[in-house]
Amino acid sequence: MIGRNDSCWCGSGKKWKKCHYPEFPADLTLAQQYLKNYRIVLKTPEQVEKIGRACKITAKILDELCKAAKPGVTTQSLDELSRQLHSKAGATPAPLGYGSPPYPKSICTSLNEVICHGIPDERPLQEGDILNIDVSSIVDGFFGDCSRMVMIGNVSEEKRHVVEVALRCLNLAINVCRPGNAIWQIGKAIEDYATSCGCSVVNQFVGHGVGISFHEPPEIPHHYNQIMTPFAPGMIFTIEPMINAGVREGILDPKDRWTVRTKDLKPSAQWEHTLLITEKGHEILTIP
Ligand code: MF3
Ligand code: CO
Repeated sequence: MIGRNDSCWCGSGKKWKKCHYPEFPADLTLAQQYLKNYRIVLKTPEQVEKIGRACKITAKILDELCKAAKPGVTTQSLDELSRQLHSKAGATPAPLGYGSPPYPKSICTSLNEVICHGIPDERPLQEGDILNIDVSSIVDGFFGDCSRMVMIGNVSEEKRHVVEVALRCLNLAINVCRPGNAIWQIGKAIEDYATSCGCSVVNQFVGHGVGISFHEPPEIPHHYNQIMTPFAPGMIFTIEPMINAGVREGILDPKDRWTVRTKDLKPSAQWEHTLLITEKGHEILTIP
């Protein structure tokens, strides 16, 4: 029997441990393998429970904000309502002070040609607007993240189309999420469908692992990609496709360094859920 420090049986002259010494990945739990290979934390049942609670509260707050989004209401007043709802629920808005420059508000409100990260301001909502409200909340140290579109009164055919296509993209993507499938299938489901509808898929922003931190591995691209990471029970991540009526390119506002608008100023839409992978498939956590 040769030892780890003896020369390898293959004749390379290297030590066995540096050469053909077998690795036993089976010795590692799935959680250890995901951490080692992908830096993904598979959540324990206790973590799932707490992240689930955070997600439910996040979704309830989003629900209330969507109901309040009516003609004449400013996005600033939605931000104020969001702060009240967070406080009442014992939750902290994750965006407030996040990043660099520090994000100034408690939610993102992205109107019409704004792809994402729109900052609430004094502009009143008006008939014909489409608005994304994005709520991310911290509850008991755990994170939830979701967003929806609201159509204000009657909107143009182009706007309604992009809103509906974006929602179908999210649902098609959710339906590929189960053990045995892999991350690339999300981008495939979304980009196949969006392009078949004459829309484009933003590739400058991605979904993300979430729960213990606001943004954690893995990245979840919504466009075509080759990320082979298989879904495993205990993975928690967002899917948040940004779908454009025109070109996919977004331009960052140089003044506030947050607001991202479509390059051609055509409308953009986004819907977002936080998802848990289970043995059987998935569970949508951000349901009120
Ligand atoms: N769902 C968005 C994201 O994950 C929320 C952005 S909040 C912001 O990026 F603070 F980063 F703007
Ligand atoms: Co997100």
